[in-house]
Amino acid sequence: MQSLVVELGDRSYPIHIGRNLLSRGDLIRPLLRQPRALILTNTTVAPLYLERLAGGLKAAGVDTIDLALPDGEQYKTWESLNRVFDALLVNRCERSTTLIALGGGVVGDMGGFAAACYQRGMPFIQVPTTLLAQVDSSVGGKTAINHPLGKNMIGAFHQPRLVLADTDTLDTLPDRELSAGLAEIIKYGLIRDLPFLQWLEGNIERLLGREPAALAEAIYRSCANKAAVVAADERESGERALLNLGHTFGHAIETGMGYGTWLHGEAVAAGTLIAAELSAGLGWLATADVARIERLFVRARLPVAAADLSVESYLDLMRHDKKVEGGRLRLVLLRSLGHAVLTDEATDAQIGAAIRARRANG
Ligand code: NAD
Ligand code: GLY
Repeated sequence: MQSLVVELGDRSYPIHIGRNLLSRGDLIRPLLRQPRALILTNTTVAPLYLERLAGGLKAAGVDTIDLALPDGEQYKTWESLNRVFDALLVNRCERSTTLIALGGGVVGDMGGFAAACYQRGMPFIQVPTTLLAQVDSSVGGKTAINHPLGKNMIGAFHQPRLVLADTDTLDTLPDRELSAGLAEIIKYGLIRDLPFLQWLEGNIERLLGREPAALAEAIYRSCANKAAVVAADERESGERALLNLGHTFGHAIETGMGYGTWLHGEAVAAGTLIAAELSAGLGWLATADVARIERLFVRARLPVAAADLSVESYLDLMRHDKKVEGGRLRLVLLRSLGHAVLTDEATDAQIGAAIRARRANG
């Protein structure tokens, strides 16, 4: 097991990464304020991993109740959130009961938001089971649900007490989901860690082949990057925005195409290429840099052509982005490989040109 800490003063918490961790109730028990927890999961993950997690907790003296929500980004809604509140109330959960989110980013984001709201805040723990959740969404305390007009628009910052990433769970992850996780991993290399980007270029096939040592290295280095950014800028007043490379375009794709049509990581990959194209348009990246990013995404089996929405639709959806300030769109772009910046320098015409250049049909 490898461990690191998200340094947030008295709210600091550990991230444990390794094999066979799901049943380690002993790692969870010391962090609980009472020996009781609600495990939130979904109907895909429950039959695979719920028993192992609940069994380990029981052996450590913790009583659990559970709720499995329907699976899918299209269920990251108020209705699902209300089902979590119903379960918490019906089971008389208290403010010191802990909510444990077992699953991918959808379960983690919803569980975290429910925990942030229930009785004005209850403790929660992330047990991420997708590559994307293990390298990104389980760390940092961003929680949310979607709105029909915009992705992750309703939410709260609420940090977990622990992130327990059992890499064995990745054995059952569909290939398409594994690739989606690689998009967020590549992101760290592009925005702030050129040596990691170079490592990924040398090891991407090992990751696709699910070699445990390669996965462990990629997850650890991703979490180290994310933990450093979150520790420096928990509430996204500056540097944390850079973690959104490709996301403003990607969220527009997810919302515009209908939640669940494109996976989040797929939309981020296509969005990152639009951002790279725009960075080249501003004279920051060389054409060869954009081609280099495209090659890595192709090797990771991710889409490199943007969704075929009109430029007007992209711009309209992007104006809901959380980085919009005073009505001005701010985008994360690349000054160079390994160095991202947040900027409002790009005009609508330049953004439109980058979208057209990356759209499948121009
Ligand atoms: P997801 O939660 O939908 O999981 C992907 C699919 O894999 C689902 O069908 C799920 O049931 C299934 N699954 C999960 N674990 C499995 C396993 N071990 N074996 C087999 N199947 C498994 O998607 P995701 O990619 O994990 O997360 C995407 C979500 O995360 C989006 O809603 C995105 O907005 C959010 N996100 C949040 C943050 C954050 O900082 N909070 C960061 C990035 C993404
Ligand atoms: N995934 C973006 C963030 O956590 O800030």
